Amino acid sequence: MHANIVVLPGDGIGPEVTAAAVDVLRAVASRYGHDFHFREHLIGGAAIDATGSALPAETLAAARSADAILLGAVGGPKWSDPSTRVRPEQGLLAIRKALGLFANLRPVKPHAATLGASPIKPHLLQGVDLIVVRELTGGIYFGDKTRGDGDASDLCRYSVAEIERVVRHAAALARARSGRLTSVDKANVLETSRLWRDVTTRIVGEEFPDVQLEHQLVDSMAMHLLARPRSFDVIVTENMFGDILTDEAAMLAGSLGLLPSASLGEGRGGIFEPIHGSAPDIAGKGIANPYAAILSAAMLLRHALELEGEAQCVELAVSQALDAGVLTADLTSDRARAVGTRAVTEAVLEQLELPCHVMELRD
Ligand code: NAD
Ligand code: IPM
Ligand code: MN
Repeated sequence: MHANIVVLPGDGIGPEVTAAAVDVLRAVASRYGHDFHFREHLIGGAAIDATGSALPAETLAAARSADAILLGAVGGPKWSDPSTRVRPEQGLLAIRKALGLFANLRPVKPHAATLGASPIKPHLLQGVDLIVVRELTGGIYFGDKTRGDGDASDLCRYSVAEIERVVRHAAALARARSGRLTSVDKANVLETSRLWRDVTTRIVGEEFPDVQLEHQLVDSMAMHLLARPRSFDVIVTENMFGDILTDEAAMLAGSLGLLPSASLGEGRGGIFEPIHGSAPDIAGKGIANPYAAILSAAMLLRHALELEGEAQCVELAVSQALDAGVLTADLTSDRARAVGTRAVTEAVLEQLELPCHVMELRD
């Protein structure tokens, strides 16, 4: 298969972890006979420094014509002053919105080798396999903002259509998994949440009667997620709640450096990005955990290129590298044992050379 992949490394550890993911995709291409073409473009702080814009027009144009987009992370202290007018994060929000990527899939599946990295008791983590579907182009992130002398406001707005499409996506996913869907809102306080609950109940009732729907309020959900993570399968929620709950859920896996994501819309393609940020505290040191970026590359193979077998082989290679004890500093308290970004990448590439027996590989 031929595919044009746009790479947006961004800032901080973004370039370090996307380099690892690109190496893995190149290895997949050569091993399974694909022709992946990579082009790097600017986004975030790097783009502000070079062009004054967090999302230059040529980056957006390249993204629009790509088969898939691999993104690192944006932001950092250099561009974080509250008085700054142009911010790196605006570039990320703008590209998600422009490409209509309303469904952000964030799977969480703790691995046996990293149970020790989680602050949660291991017996609570056994068998956890959940996926958060975060609404990505609406809500308080995108409402009108005002800033006066003595006040500021961010408007939270959702339309029925925006809720319907993300709920359909999540319910279809639940149907393909265990058939259980948890919708998270704050319907006891917010009008947007009451609309969210009404629409979710109607869509699931009418179109997915075989899916078992439960509603949870976001505050107690933050607690349930840690107290009984195994009881959740597909979780659907609005933009900001999904942002917060998934960084929390990263602690089930053991580190932010383990969680990948896929940002999808109605059409093909999408943005594939780790859920973590630019990690300014460790940037440039060669110690960033690239597993989340590599697993995002697996999601790219699955969702944008429909190469399910290849996606599973990358996930298997990651799993085997973790089993072999190839852990970055965020995954082990044993300083002497921790390895850097490059060593993890090499270990995954080595595993990819080995035979990969997965169900759906067409080679
Ligand atoms: P962060 O996710 O960058 O870092 C939080 C903590 O997790 C840090 O201690 C960091 O070192 C650690 N961490 C994150 N990813 C890691 C990895 N791969 N390996 C090892 N450790 C890792 O969050 P933050 O510090 O709140 O934000 C820093 C900047 O990143 C901000 O400018 C923020 O806006 C931006 N950000 C961007 C994205 C994105 O581009 N998708 C996501 C989140 C935050
Ligand atoms: C994420 C990030 C972004 C978000 C920021 C950087 C705009 O935290 O991808 O989770 O809040 O969506
Ligand atoms: Mn986030």
